[in-house]
Amino acid sequence: MTPMKFSILTIFPDMFTGFLEHGIIRRAMDRGLIDTGIINIRDHAAGRHRVTDDRPYGGGNGMVMKPEPLAGAIRETVNRYPDALTIHLTPQGRVFDQDTARELTRTDHIVMICGRYEGIDERICETLVDRELSIGDYVLTGGEVAAMVVIDAVTRLLPGALGGDHSADTDSFADQLLAHAQYTRPREFEGKAVPDVLLSGNHREIDRWRTESAMIRTFLKRPDLLTKRLLTDEETQLLKKWHMEIGRIIKNRGTNG
Ligand code: ADE
Repeated sequence: MTPMKFSILTIFPDMFTGFLEHGIIRRAMDRGLIDTGIINIRDHAAGRHRVTDDRPYGGGNGMVMKPEPLAGAIRETVNRYPDALTIHLTPQGRVFDQDTARELTRTDHIVMICGRYEGIDERICETLVDRELSIGDYVLTGGEVAAMVVIDAVTRLLPGALGGDHSADTDSFADQLLAHAQYTRPREFEGKAVPDVLLSGNHREIDRWRTESAMIRTFLKRPDLLTKRLLTDEETQLLKKWHMEIGRIIKNRGTNG
């Protein structure tokens, strides 16, 4: 199988060193699941000073990334890999989520453009960018951290990336639910015990408990996810059970005023 390739265009290549050298990303590279290339945009800038930014036409604060070095860096990559998908990381892009991560796993090659300053020259966006992605509604100092987020989320979904029989199927968002609660040793910590069922060895009961835990957490922390989801029979039964229990609590408490 050919590795999925990420080409990262940046003026700060060193930012990626630590990221690419550790953990699951490193292992995915060692196993040939992904391949990464860092392209220094500055290498495509002209002149002795290899300038990559300039003042904005029309005035205003900050600097804008010049089009020529970016065009040179993008074209060099895309000419070599014509099927590559070119993504510009920008707060103006569509917000990245787990569905998008899953969709991107089906791409052979992603070219990531990491902008800095006030952004990149609009003519690059018009002609050389296939897609814009944002990692959330806030502004970072550059696209590098956003590119790492996308690479991380996509890589861990590739078959074999997580190692052993671990799969991403049980992750939060895998099916529009947050993940269930997790516990490890010790059995009691600061007076709080691990739920008995997890020590019972009864896998049906453990699965049921985990489904309920995932549902409760999603209901309390991200109820918006539940409304997007088709419920299984077991989940519908759980909601009905809570509904009845809540009804009973309200009835038994009476009213205060
Ligand atoms: N660059 C600056 N802010 C960003 C964001 N929120 N997402 C992606 N790229 C960015």
